[in-house]
Amino acid sequence: MLENLERIKVQFKEELNLAEMKDELERIRVAFLGKKGLVTEALKDLHNLDAEAKKTAGMQVNMLKNEIEKAIVDYQKVLEEREYQKELENAERFDYSIPSDKPVGAMHPITIVQKQIEDIFKTMGFIVEDGLEIQTEFNNFEGVNIPKNHPARDMTDTYYLDNGQLLKTHTSAAQNAIMKKYGAPKTGEPLKVLFPGRCFRNENIDACHENTFFQLEGMMIGDDISISNLIYFMKVLLTEVFQRDVKVRLRPGFFPFVEPGFELDINCSICGGVGCPTCKNSGWLELLPCGMIHPNVLRLGGIDPDKYTGFAFGLGLTRLAMMKFNIKDIRLFNSGSLKQLKQFTV
Ligand code: DAH
Repeated sequence: MLENLERIKVQFKEELNLAEMKDELERIRVAFLGKKGLVTEALKDLHNLDAEAKKTAGMQVNMLKNEIEKAIVDYQKVLEEREYQKELENAERFDYSIPSDKPVGAMHPITIVQKQIEDIFKTMGFIVEDGLEIQTEFNNFEGVNIPKNHPARDMTDTYYLDNGQLLKTHTSAAQNAIMKKYGAPKTGEPLKVLFPGRCFRNENIDACHENTFFQLEGMMIGDDISISNLIYFMKVLLTEVFQRDVKVRLRPGFFPFVEPGFELDINCSICGGVGCPTCKNSGWLELLPCGMIHPNVLRLGGIDPDKYTGFAFGLGLTRLAMMKFNIKDIRLFNSGSLKQLKQFTV
């Protein structure tokens, strides 16, 4: 019996060494381990042995079986690697760095508007920062003057992670980290930052509400920043985006992180201000909440509110894209429907 196993082993090794293709391996596997394979037959032969001999021989056959199985798997990897190397050698050389003469793909409507605004603000000396999507509760709330149990937290329920962090509900969540990163501005060189980002809220989704949407936030902090600066930058922003001189109006608005806070409305672009269903017949559209940064927020960011002032604004980027491209259903943005999205590329 043991001699027989030794013979099988030698034969297996010889055949394996000759195999050059993956399908030959399968033939070998069947020849040795298949229903009528040599190892399987050897297992059957165990019946003829007495109990003691059966035990030792049985172990030997099983060892051989495992050895063969493993050798086949290992050799398969060797052959695969060989085939891959051969493919590489024969592959046509392709230079990925050559620019394509056919533009493929296009920018998403939100990216288009975002880039447009970034370009406008960069020319006015703003830097663009990335705000993280996963934030600490502190950055999203306490850092912008929304303490625990503040009613504003109810309106912005979001998705919490097991570690206590959350998906940010607004781009304002980056304010604190940005202030700490850049520190107090030098005299005459205000800190001017733009930070667009994806935000999340626990919303019931319909044509006007999404649980995932985009905002674009901006901040300017210096030793002499006033509401006039705020209005100036907001007007430039909207005039450039809509490519016409837009009429704006400021109304008081409450946000815990600004004081005073405003809602900046623009003259309705659909009806020209006479009143229509889109602007609920008021002639104005709420677009840009903003205000003078609350002293607490500056202080928490390590900036002395007695020396510095600043403004902040939080533009609803998704909303702006809807208005710019006249998109009636917010769900289109995250639909992944190229057929639909393609209409809005420029
Ligand atoms: N974070 C606010 C929101 O998501 C928007 C906002 C309002 C941002 C006023 C600001 C601001 O910077 O000054 O509703």
